[in-house]
Amino acid sequence: MKPRFITLDGIDGAGKSTNLAVMKAWFEKHQLPVLFTREPGGTPAGEALREILLNPATQVSLRTETLLMFAARQQHLETVILPALKNGTHVVSDRFTDATFAYQGGGRGVPLQDIATLEHWVQGDFRPDLTLLLDVPLEVSMARVNQTREKDRFEQEKAEFFNRVREVYLQRANEQPERYAVIDSSQSLDAVKNQIETVLDSHFELNV
Ligand code: TMP
Repeated sequence: MKPRFITLDGIDGAGKSTNLAVMKAWFEKHQLPVLFTREPGGTPAGEALREILLNPATQVSLRTETLLMFAARQQHLETVILPALKNGTHVVSDRFTDATFAYQGGGRGVPLQDIATLEHWVQGDFRPDLTLLLDVPLEVSMARVNQTREKDRFEQEKAEFFNRVREVYLQRANEQPERYAVIDSSQSLDAVKNQIETVLDSHFELNV
């Protein structure tokens, strides 16, 4: 079986943590070798950059923020993702480049073409085989984020920011339906779990 690179993405408060657990259980059930990792992060340098990027005290320009995301990604790709895939291990990343298009592009206003240029520089033609996009209406995600006691630098943004982030995610999913599975994450936990399992079953052509 060809090792797959799968990403999970969506606005803050879309329910990523709960659904990562669903994905982990699915891989365990099917006894497929898998590495779960995250962005920004996944390497010592990437985790250090994550601290900087998520710290509310950090003041950086739009371009700096974008470059730091890609710096973390370069290290992650070279030292973790590509070697694992080469080794025959599937890789699931909690966020990837779609987040840069959505957050830095949609949210902050960095031209999408500039992000595409960096994407090409860092990744060449490498793209996820499958992206699960968790989608929820803004009221739902904002209510979840507002329950967080200590909000990070992104979680402190306003509803309009997340609205723009969500629009870019949905627009990208719409443009490349073969790569994305949009999961309605406003449903009950069980219903969302079923959607995720169905998507993974059909991607791996399993009917168990
Ligand atoms: P999370 O792991 O809790 O989702 O936090 C990561 C935050 O970083 C989240 O708010 C989205 C943001 N982010 C970007 O803005 N651009 C990116 O490229 C990535 C990977 C994450």
